[in-house]
Amino acid sequence: MKDLSGKNALLTGGSRGLGPYIGRALAGEGVNVALTARSEAELRAVAGELAAMGVKAKAIPADVTDVASRTKLLDEVRAELGGIDILVNNAGIERLSLYTRLSPEFIETMIYTNLAAPLLLTRLLLPEMMRQGSGHIVTISSMGGKKGSPYSATYAGTKAGLIEWTRGLREELRHTGVSASVICPGFVAEAGMFAVYGKSAPRIAGETTPEKVADAVIRSIRKDVGEIIVNPGPIRPMLVLDAIHPGIGAWIFRTFGVYDFYRRQSEENEGESQKE
Ligand SMILES: NC(=O)c1ccc[n+]([C@@H]2O[C@H](COP(=O)([O-])OP(=O)(O)OC[C@H]3O[C@@H](n4cnc5c(N)ncnc54)[C@H](OP(=O)(O)O)[C@@H]3O)[C@@H](O)[C@H]2O)c1
Repeated sequence: MKDLSGKNALLTGGSRGLGPYIGRALAGEGVNVALTARSEAELRAVAGELAAMGVKAKAIPADVTDVASRTKLLDEVRAELGGIDILVNNAGIERLSLYTRLSPEFIETMIYTNLAAPLLLTRLLLPEMMRQGSGHIVTISSMGGKKGSPYSATYAGTKAGLIEWTRGLREELRHTGVSASVICPGFVAEAGMFAVYGKSAPRIAGETTPEKVADAVIRSIRKDVGEIIVNPGPIRPMLVLDAIHPGIGAWIFRTFGVYDFYRRQSEENEGESQKE
């Protein structure tokens, strides 16, 4: 989709973290944006900011894990903006923790939020895009989906699922005018789900910015790129080595303190939840 101006996008996870950056990047291209998340006041504030950039911006609260809520969401977006040209599956949750310390209910919620919801929202929208003969689905995965980490195993499972789902779907959509891309950001320290820790990731793991993630979303649509890793540093050669010889990546991350970093954050979370 070379010219994004005047297109309509639905962005999940629009209330905070990386979502507002992606919303601003879309609005900067002249895209009208429907933002969704559960927190209405935050959504309205972001929508106000985007509208001031000269596009239509609508805040439509919804819980993406709820089946009725997803259908209602699409109906409301169509009523507010008309057809939907771009879906950005961005909403997601994470909790660094020993796997056995996560409740079965929380594991289920993470699977629904991170994996099932984007698949099902896309399933609702795709027939309309295919009838239009144009559209783009962008899904935010993570470096965690390329290389699973301890204390983050469930998250890694959901994010790896998004990568392979996008690969399959993208191939299936060839020659339909509709396409799919997946974005794999590395650690973002200044905004989003890891900002609460107030720390940088170890150098070897690489760190990126919310603006670069938002730029990657735009590039994936404009140039129809299947997968974008948003992470500086030596992560790509490490992934290649790891693919040839599984275990090398884990050895590197273990040796250079990445897994210790995750363990410390998970212990901090544990301390916090004991205070609650
Ligand atoms: N930050 C990073 O370092 C990083 C790195 C790699 C990948 N990612 C991925 O980037 C995406 C955005 O993450 P973030 O860092 O911006 O996280 P965040 O700051 O925690 O924001 C998550 C967003 O998802 C929404 N959300 C969560 N559960 C929802 C639900 N059931 N229904 C509707 N909306 C829901 C939240 O809104 P409400 O709570 O208001 O519903 C919020 O807008 C995620 O998919 C994440 O996995 C982030």
